[in-house]
Amino acid sequence: MAAILRERGALLSLVARNESRLREAAGADALMVAGDVTQAAVRADVIRQTIGRWGRIDILINNAGRGSYYSVFNTPPDETRAVFELNFFAAVEMAQLAAPWLRETRGTLVNISSIAGQIPLPWLPYYSASKAALASITSSQRIEMRRGGVNVMGVFPGYVDTGFQAHAAGERPPDRVVQGKRLAVSTADCAEAIVNGIERRKRVVVTPGMGWPLVIFHRLFPGFVESRLGAV
Ligand SMILES: NC(=O)c1ccc[n+]([C@@H]2O[C@H](COP(=O)([O-])OP(=O)(O)OC[C@H]3O[C@@H](n4cnc5c(N)ncnc54)[C@H](OP(=O)(O)O)[C@@H]3O)[C@@H](O)[C@H]2O)c1
Repeated sequence: MAAILRERGALLSLVARNESRLREAAGADALMVAGDVTQAAVRADVIRQTIGRWGRIDILINNAGRGSYYSVFNTPPDETRAVFELNFFAAVEMAQLAAPWLRETRGTLVNISSIAGQIPLPWLPYYSASKAALASITSSQRIEMRRGGVNVMGVFPGYVDTGFQAHAAGERPPDRVVQGKRLAVSTADCAEAIVNGIERRKRVVVTPGMGWPLVIFHRLFPGFVESRLGAV
């Protein structure tokens, strides 16, 4: 996303914990803040430094997130909270800090949820719950921000070829889930869909598009989908 946005003329502020990987993604002009977005001081610092460097915020993308492959009754309580700290609380609190600046530019807030935020996946139960919470608050943010002219976009990717599985906490996911990585879309395709969504001020991006029938099918026949997921 950073590379595509830079190509299209965006001035970037990037935050992540790993400074060398951040440098690879950032390019010469970008502002980089190495830190953990679950920490309030880091979130405040990103906004402060961004305004110091660029003087405005047109787009906030809440992308940082991680998986948690534990079964629902075996997840350690600290892990449940840690997943929500990153996937939900960090994102909503970044949005609160950026909101006044986004109102000034009539900009765009992007929350990267997941197809798991629409269809609960039993091998990622608290991840799914955190992404469902993020999807819900995205709708509330959209309603509240509409009057100020800010577009709020929810993104619901399926399987994307990233370090997600390797970086997730927990146990080994079921074999069929690991093998499903063959079907993953590329980061380039996913990023392109997200950036196009920002440019067209879409409210929702489901990528790849085959996620839509899955979401609709789950809404219509939740019992059937649950029984299929239970068999994975
Ligand atoms: N891959 C998929 O199939 C998939 C599907 C649906 C949704 N998603 C969502 O897409 C988003 C990106 O994930 P990914 O697939 O690209 O996984 P990834 O390869 O593990 O990347 C995660 C990104 O988040 C950053 N990050 C993680 N914890 C952080 C923290 N505490 N503070 C600051 N930055 C942090 C990481 O940088 P550092 O490690 O350097 O901090 C990295 O840039 C996540 O929200 C994920 O839930 C992924």
